[in-house]
Amino acid sequence: MTERPRLLPLLGPAGHGGRDAMTCIYRCGNACAHPVPNESDNPYFGDVVQAEVTRRGVVRAGAVGALVLGFGGAAAGALAGSPAMAAPGNGSSPALPEVDSFTPARRPGNAALTFKPIPPNKLDTLVVPNGYDHSVVIRWGDPVLSGAPELDVQRQTAARQSQQFGYNNDFVGVLPLDRKGERALLVVNHEYTNENLMFPNFTTFDAMSVEQVRVAMAAHGLSVVELERVGESGEWKPVRKGKLKYNRRITAHTTKFDFTGPAAGSAWLKTAADPKGRTAIGTLNNCAGGITPWGTVLSGEENFNQYFVGGDGAPETLKPKLARYGITTTARYPADSRKWERADERFDLAKHPNEAHRFGWIVEVDPFDPEAKPRKHTALGRFKHEGANVIVAKDERVVAYMGDDERFDYLYKFVSDKKFKKGDSWTAREHNLTLLESGTLYVAKLDQTSADEIDGSGKLPTDGAFNGRGKWIKLVRGNTSYVPGMTAADVLTFTRQAGDAVGATKMDRPEDVEPSLLTGKVYVALTNNTNRGVGTNPKADEANPRTNNKHGHVLELVEDRGDNTSETFAWSVPIVCGDPTDASTYFAGYDKTKVSPISCPDNVAFDGSGNLWIATDGNALGSNDGLFATAIEGPERGHLKQFLTVPLGAETCGPFITTDNRSVFVAVQHPGELSGASLENPASNWPDGDFAKPGVVVTWRLDGDVVGS
Ligand code: FEO
Ligand code: CA
Ligand code: CA
Ligand code: CA
Repeated sequence: MTERPRLLPLLGPAGHGGRDAMTCIYRCGNACAHPVPNESDNPYFGDVVQAEVTRRGVVRAGAVGALVLGFGGAAAGALAGSPAMAAPGNGSSPALPEVDSFTPARRPGNAALTFKPIPPNKLDTLVVPNGYDHSVVIRWGDPVLSGAPELDVQRQTAARQSQQFGYNNDFVGVLPLDRKGERALLVVNHEYTNENLMFPNFTTFDAMSVEQVRVAMAAHGLSVVELERVGESGEWKPVRKGKLKYNRRITAHTTKFDFTGPAAGSAWLKTAADPKGRTAIGTLNNCAGGITPWGTVLSGEENFNQYFVGGDGAPETLKPKLARYGITTTARYPADSRKWERADERFDLAKHPNEAHRFGWIVEVDPFDPEAKPRKHTALGRFKHEGANVIVAKDERVVAYMGDDERFDYLYKFVSDKKFKKGDSWTAREHNLTLLESGTLYVAKLDQTSADEIDGSGKLPTDGAFNGRGKWIKLVRGNTSYVPGMTAADVLTFTRQAGDAVGATKMDRPEDVEPSLLTGKVYVALTNNTNRGVGTNPKADEANPRTNNKHGHVLELVEDRGDNTSETFAWSVPIVCGDPTDASTYFAGYDKTKVSPISCPDNVAFDGSGNLWIATDGNALGSNDGLFATAIEGPERGHLKQFLTVPLGAETCGPFITTDNRSVFVAVQHPGELSGASLENPASNWPDGDFAKPGVVVTWRLDGDVVGS
């Protein structure tokens, strides 16, 4: 691939919002072209893990009790002489680093966001502010496992891809691996594949070989990659030498997952391949995620529906349940089907109707134990999970916040039965690994304060805010269902219908939902919903205040008494996205002449100072997607500034800001995903100047100072 590709005309119809039609097809199976799946008539209205222990219980004595920051800083520097990491207990299973927490409380006030915002642009490159640099940490096809081959698109096989970095990286988590902030584990989701940009001479899914289908399956899933800091800078790169004992690939077609929780073993999960309903093969469409305080990664299985065919041949009684999840039940093939059943018949619902129920869960992966089987936690419900983010509540139970990314779908939270166990023992770690197996699942209902004034224009009500009170409606706890006519297994497997039954509030595509570990307040990216108020669809309401919501908004939840287990909360909309010259936009009352235009908020994250970072997907203002940041407390609240843009056709994912504020990671997903593009004729040359490759980027300050200040 030495020939410089030419610029492409847009050959296909435009997609929805700011999305290219190719994104609509590949990423979510053209979900927006399908009817809204929610036809219900419900009204729209740690400081701790220090275990030096393997999962097999081999304990190694070591220093404990020291407070250490995961990523540099004075505390870590002072302890630089301490043992960096426990040696593998039995020579095969690595132990945990001595960090005070994998999700440490963040410290306010030491890093104002003073970077100069970059302008919107359509450049085929990654743009960062003056004074910053960036590099590609890892890209599609780079070796992950020891001895893996380099990418060769002419000779790609499933076996090669299973050892290499997957496609379309989305969630990015970076977990400290030592006390000095010199080594870390990068954990990344691979949401989906762009076959036309991956395979030579691609024409149609039908024309792909079965081996190519398996390559696509192997390019899904997750990657775990050991990183090392470059010198003293904020730059990180993969460790390439020696035995890569943590590095791991999880795929859609080979990795086995244990089901946990009340729906594990239920009739809904039993298939020919797994008559006990307890072990799923593979994970699909892993989108956003989160790092738990005990050092695991949660990953959301999102648009799993698009991988299945044969819904028309499923039992009639099951069809409404499948359709509520966007599965086509009126034809054998959904539009633009990937035809995976050609490689594995479990993707044919006419033969294996329950197989679809084995996806749509929150997955937990322990990156510190490459041999640990990942798990799908049924207690957290089944929907198009964007991701899950955990906070330890005041009473030490853990709370996971989650969104169902579909037009007019819902917000959820899970409260564990058991308490988070602090401490340095292997029993604490083993205990914490069970926290997401039992608890209470809630769905959100938002009440309005100014309902009469909401006209869909985005005009602020006279009380000065889109705001109100809200309730977490209990759906299920353990084996007890609170939804009439549904068992606990029903509620957990068909959680959307449970939300319908209790009158949950229909939202404008809830994507990432993440609590600030500094304040406990929760931020929800509502990416867009161009169906809002259109035709017979639900009208604008105070929590989703714009008709034809092209640019999305951000919701803030404040749980009563500052208690994340509370069943009541207050909510408001601090950011209504768009061009700030557009009267319908709002930036927490900040001077709109000073904020950057933003469209389609998707992934959110917090830096070490508690600032909110927002990545976009589908910019409907004509610019490339990007990463933005704003303070969310104090006088700078709403002063949103653009930090970077990604190349042509890409969406900005991750993001992840290390707690020392020295490194900002983003995932560049689907670069060059524009109509008419192919491997031979790419619409983006990023990152290597030949054909487009999704990849993870790290950004840092050239002068070595912290990001923002
Ligand atoms: Fe995969 Fe909802 O974004
Ligand atoms: Ca109001
Ligand atoms: Ca997303
Ligand atoms: Ca996030």
